[in-house]
Amino acid sequence: MNTVYLNGEYIPEDQAKISVFDRGFLFGDSVYEVIPFYQGVGFRLQEHIDRLNHSLRAVRISCEMDWAQILGDLVEKNGGGNLSVYLQITRGDAGKRSHVYDEGLQPTVFACCSEIKDIWQAGADDILPIKAMVMEDLRWHRCDIKSTCLLPNILVLQQANDEGVQEAILSRDDRLTEGSACNLFLVKRGVLFTPKRSSEILGGITRELILELADEYGIQYQEVDVDYDRLLAADEVWVSSSTRGIIPVIEVDGHQIGDGNKGPMWHKMFELFVTFQRKLMRGTK
Ligand code: PDD
Repeated sequence: MNTVYLNGEYIPEDQAKISVFDRGFLFGDSVYEVIPFYQGVGFRLQEHIDRLNHSLRAVRISCEMDWAQILGDLVEKNGGGNLSVYLQITRGDAGKRSHVYDEGLQPTVFACCSEIKDIWQAGADDILPIKAMVMEDLRWHRCDIKSTCLLPNILVLQQANDEGVQEAILSRDDRLTEGSACNLFLVKRGVLFTPKRSSEILGGITRELILELADEYGIQYQEVDVDYDRLLAADEVWVSSSTRGIIPVIEVDGHQIGDGNKGPMWHKMFELFVTFQRKLMRGTK
């Protein structure tokens, strides 16, 4: 049985209970993070904590805790292997349903783990390319906040799955923003392109790392508006997230991307990415 963290206690998951009046349950009034731990080491843990604090501040939930300690202990209690840690903080239990909230509510803090693949040990051949479709981005305009209000994300991904593809790429006002739970990259003539950071996308931790690695290893990149035609004309398309790493997209809306295989730039970035992770595991990064 997995151990979860709930409001200061480490308990078996079947004993974790929250109130039906918790605002996270009633309104999605809550924020979250998903952080991979490989062999007990958090992947860009401080960056995830910084983003969590950004989300908390943006929705005016005040909750300062020693997240590194709490999550580190949780990972240890769950065997310390390759785990994805989910952390959710709601505005708390108001004891009633009311849109308006009292400032003094005690936030509900919940964290749990699930096993993930150790991407850093994988070879390029272990990564399966995916197909995607473009769909309208129906989310609000504060996608920089990692809010648990994920209904638009869930519905597009479900529709994509129903149509036999693995990812939905979102489009707002003729500009592509990101995937249902991942950031978007494309490659054209050796240059890497990704939508600009704004409140229309989540500032992905993996996205940031890809751009850092591009900087460090002299790969040209641009943060730009990406439209549909540019996407279909790309030599390579990738999506990125902490739990999935960097995934090549070889078909969009039935159109083949590039030559329909994982591209050379993907291979290069994948190698840089796993090398970075291996150094992190050895404590040299
Ligand atoms: N999602 N964009 C969205 C909308 C996301 O939900 C995510 C991650 C990303 C990638 O961010 P990062 O590189 O920091 O993981 C981009 C997580 C994994 C989730 O919701 O499960």
